[in-house]
Amino acid sequence: MPISTKPLTGSDFVVEVSGIDLSESQDAETIAALRTALGKHSILVFRQQSLTNEQQIAFSRNFGELEIHLVRQYLMPEHPEIIVLSNVGAGGVKPTANGGAYWHSDISYRAKPPLGSLLYGVEVPPEGGNTLFANMYGAYDTLSDDLKNKVDGRKAVHSYLGRFMAMRDRDTSHKGEDKFELDEEQQESFPPVLHPIVRTHPESGRKALYVNDGFTIGIEDMDEDDGKALLRKLNIHATRDPLLYSHAWQPGDVVFWDNRSTMHCATSYDPVHTRTMHRTTIQGDTPY
Ligand code: SIN
Repeated sequence: MPISTKPLTGSDFVVEVSGIDLSESQDAETIAALRTALGKHSILVFRQQSLTNEQQIAFSRNFGELEIHLVRQYLMPEHPEIIVLSNVGAGGVKPTANGGAYWHSDISYRAKPPLGSLLYGVEVPPEGGNTLFANMYGAYDTLSDDLKNKVDGRKAVHSYLGRFMAMRDRDTSHKGEDKFELDEEQQESFPPVLHPIVRTHPESGRKALYVNDGFTIGIEDMDEDDGKALLRKLNIHATRDPLLYSHAWQPGDVVFWDNRSTMHCATSYDPVHTRTMHRTTIQGDTPY
């Protein structure tokens, strides 16, 4: 049966995909259709899935090689392609209260940041613990001419350490968050990188804003304070209500997002409930 898509918001930013069981192997035509849908819509939601670790890895591999995240303490020992985000810990992995609770595009501090990520809701709280997504195509399209002139053709600095700087500068929005601490070897393996502030999506050809609160720490050839102020402005612009989608998780949901045209942020929930998510992350290309 061919897949079908249904928009979940007023815009075509998020679609629910039906007619597919992700635990099965997929033909080339289906994968091509999903790849095109991802570039066009940015977020694909699949409901009522039941995946083993091997099946999640196999489905994700249809879109490229998988990242092995640098936070080794959260990787599933038998399957390091899966990062476990769980407040109780699971499968031999340390608990994390809410590891993704800040605006970011996954691993943007790499020279070749990931194409996309697949998050599988294994156990989710009855309410809260949503994932918020920001539409970065929309963020670019709705920038004022003045801001477009300021950012077009410029590059920003991305660093894993941006995360800790954000926590230091704005501790109220990061209270209670676990620190994904890095040892020196891990830090040295990820020096800061430069990416264009406006990137062109390699498949859709659309322009998207490519900065994020978590990992973007400055702007090339710009005074530090001016760079930070501009980044703050861009972040506020990109996270306005009309550009957001809030995914309320049901167990068995799989959300596949495009890191090239979105940012995301986990939201809080009552920690008496368990929230266990499995993420695979697909490698991408150098942004341009
Ligand atoms: C992530 O940041 O990759 C996970 C987001 C979430 O747990 O909702």
